[in-house]
Amino acid sequence: MALELLVNKNSKTVKRLDDSLFIRALRGKSVERTPVWLMRQAGRYQASYRAIREKVDFLTLCHSSELAAQVTVEAVDSLQVDAGIIFADILLPLERIGRLSFARGDGPQLAKPVVCSQDVDSLPTIDVEGELSYVFQSVSLFCKERPQVPLIGFAGAPFTLASYLIEGGSSRNFEKTKAFMFKESAAFAKLMSYLTDVTIAYLKGQAEAGAHALMLFDSWVGALSRQDFQRFVLPHSKKIFAALEEQPTIYFGTACGGMLDLFAESGAACIGVDWRSDLSNAHRMIGQDKAYMGNLDPCVLFADKDEIARQAAYILDQAKAAGGSHIFNLGHGILQHTQEENVRFLVETVKEYSADRKT
Ligand code: CP3
Repeated sequence: MALELLVNKNSKTVKRLDDSLFIRALRGKSVERTPVWLMRQAGRYQASYRAIREKVDFLTLCHSSELAAQVTVEAVDSLQVDAGIIFADILLPLERIGRLSFARGDGPQLAKPVVCSQDVDSLPTIDVEGELSYVFQSVSLFCKERPQVPLIGFAGAPFTLASYLIEGGSSRNFEKTKAFMFKESAAFAKLMSYLTDVTIAYLKGQAEAGAHALMLFDSWVGALSRQDFQRFVLPHSKKIFAALEEQPTIYFGTACGGMLDLFAESGAACIGVDWRSDLSNAHRMIGQDKAYMGNLDPCVLFADKDEIARQAAYILDQAKAAGGSHIFNLGHGILQHTQEENVRFLVETVKEYSADRKT
C-alpha cells in the first residue's frame, strides 16, 4: 500500500497512513469492514499495565516517553485494534497551572484551583513545546515502533479542562464551574480562550510528532444546556478544529445526545456518541457528511460473550442501516475491572461481523 510521506518542521519523516482503514473511515471513504479501537484500551484492566504501575506511579508513567509508548504498543498488539491512542492524560497540560496530582484511587486533584477572576489574570504562560515535549516524544516512539498503525493524539477540550481547574478535581454537578461561568462570564471566557490556545498548540505538536488523527475529549460538557453549550463552549471548539484543518479530527463528549447536531457544527470530521443515544438518531443529528464513532456501553463487557456479541451486532446493524462512515468504539472508556479476554473477544467479533456485513 502506498504510504504518503510528509516531512515535518524538525525534518523528521512522518507517515500519513491515508490508506489505513481507520483514516479512510474518518475521511468518509469506503472501507471493507468497520474499523475498531476502544477508549482507554491501555489501562488498569490489563495485567501488563498493572505490572508497570506497580513500579511507577501514573504521572511518572506519562512522563516517561519510552514507557508510555510501550503501554500504547502493548494495547494495540494485544487487542489487534485498527488504531492506537497515545498513552497520556487530558490533564497533563494543567500540571503546572493547577498543581496536578493523582492520589491512588482518588482520581485527579488540582491543589491550586481557579477560584476568582484574578486567578485567571495570573495564569502562567505555558511553553507547550518544551513542557509537553515528553508526550511528543512518546508519539514519535510509537510511530517508529508500529509504523503501519494509525495513532490518535488527544487533548481535553477547554470546558472539560476548565471544570477540573475550577472544581479542583472530578465533580458530579459542576456547581463551581457553572457558577463561575454564569457570574464571571468575562473571566470564564478568558480562561476558555487561554485553554483553547494551549490545546491547539498541544494537538499541533502531537500531529507534528506523527499522530495521524486528533481527538478532543469534552467528557463533561454534557452537563450543560444546549444554549449554554452554544454560548460558552462551541466558539472555542470551532476555533480548535479550524486550526487543525489538515488532520482528521474526532470530537467526543458523554451525555451529549441532545446536542450532537451542535457537535457536528464544530468542524470535527467525526463525532463520538455514547451509549445513552440511539445510534440511528445520533447519525441523523450528526448528518451524512461526518463520520461517527461509538457506542457500546462499557458495562456490556461485564456480560457473557453471547450478550457482548449480540450488542455489538446490534450497533453494527444500526450503523449499516443508517449508512455513512462508522467507527466502532465504546461509548466511554474501558472500566478497570473488565476482563481482558472479553475486550479481545469484542474486537474480534466486530471485525468478523462487519466484514461479513460489508460484502
Ligand atoms: O488508552 C487510552 O485511552 C489512552 C490513555 C488515556 C488516559 N486518560 C489514561 C489514564 C486517555 C485518552 C485519558 C483521557 C482522560 N483523562 C479523560 C477523557 C476521557 C474520559 O474518560 O472521559 C479524562 C476525563 C481524564 C482525567 C482522568 N485521568 C481521571 C478522571 C482519572 C482518574 C479516574 C480513573 O479512571 O482512575 C485519570 C487517570 C488515568 N488516565 C488512568 C489512565 C490509564 C488511570 C490511572 C492509573 O493507572 O491509576
